[in-house]
Amino acid sequence: MRIEVLPDAAAVGAAAAAVVVAALISRPHLVLGVATGSSPGPLYDALAQRVREGLDTSGVQAWALDEYVGLPASHPESYHAVVARTVTGPLGLDPASVHVPDGAARDPHASAADYEAALARTGGVDLQILGIGHNGHLAFNEPGSPAGSRTRVVPLTVRTRQANARFFGGDVDAVPTHAITQGLGTIGAAGHLLLVATGADKAEAVAAALTGEQSAEVPASLVQRHPQVTVLLDAAAARHLPASFGVGAARLAGVAEPR
Ligand code: GLP
Repeated sequence: MRIEVLPDAAAVGAAAAAVVVAALISRPHLVLGVATGSSPGPLYDALAQRVREGLDTSGVQAWALDEYVGLPASHPESYHAVVARTVTGPLGLDPASVHVPDGAARDPHASAADYEAALARTGGVDLQILGIGHNGHLAFNEPGSPAGSRTRVVPLTVRTRQANARFFGGDVDAVPTHAITQGLGTIGAAGHLLLVATGADKAEAVAAALTGEQSAEVPASLVQRHPQVTVLLDAAAARHLPASFGVGAARLAGVAEPR
């Protein structure tokens, strides 16, 4: 596992974009797993800049991790809409090559199974971008999710719905109660995992995922058993990691002490 601690979210985004660009150069038909949420925003911004400078993304396929159940794709906070706004457009991807689970399907369980099967038919994700939830969740795999789980319908915890209420005008009741999510087994099958986390509020989850026991209670601890993982953190998100994990190096580089 490669762990790098960088000064701030913009630096994390730039370093993460460099990982994606390197993967794309070595494999023009890259199957890229994309995450939603705030964490990958600077990464998508940095990649969009590279695309404006001429980076060719015409061969890329993108597969989203998850989607709310019951929100129409036209809802601005559906992950269909978020991925179109933050990934498809800015990275210049062909919309036909961008895939998001169908959370508005009449039978979301069948649509989850179809998504898993369609992803498997591509040969799987080459590079998976990941954020991390405050409780250590990955995609919408909440604590307790089985290690071998596949794409399925899951209930969301109150904590996750509260965290995401900011996207729904602060109204937790407006946040759907269920989602379709790739499972931990699905995510773990990707060739390379790229985890980005920024901000002091992620520090506990990051430390638990990277240094704690591998456990279903911390879904993101799956990174400890994956053969190719890159973790990019800002100093605040790294503040509970031991110095051997690079926090010391960030301080030496003149980074302000996190709160
Ligand atoms: C959301 C998403 C995850 C994301 C996480 C953290 O609920 N389903 O894919 O990684 O929570 O989000 P953020 O990056 O906004 O903190």
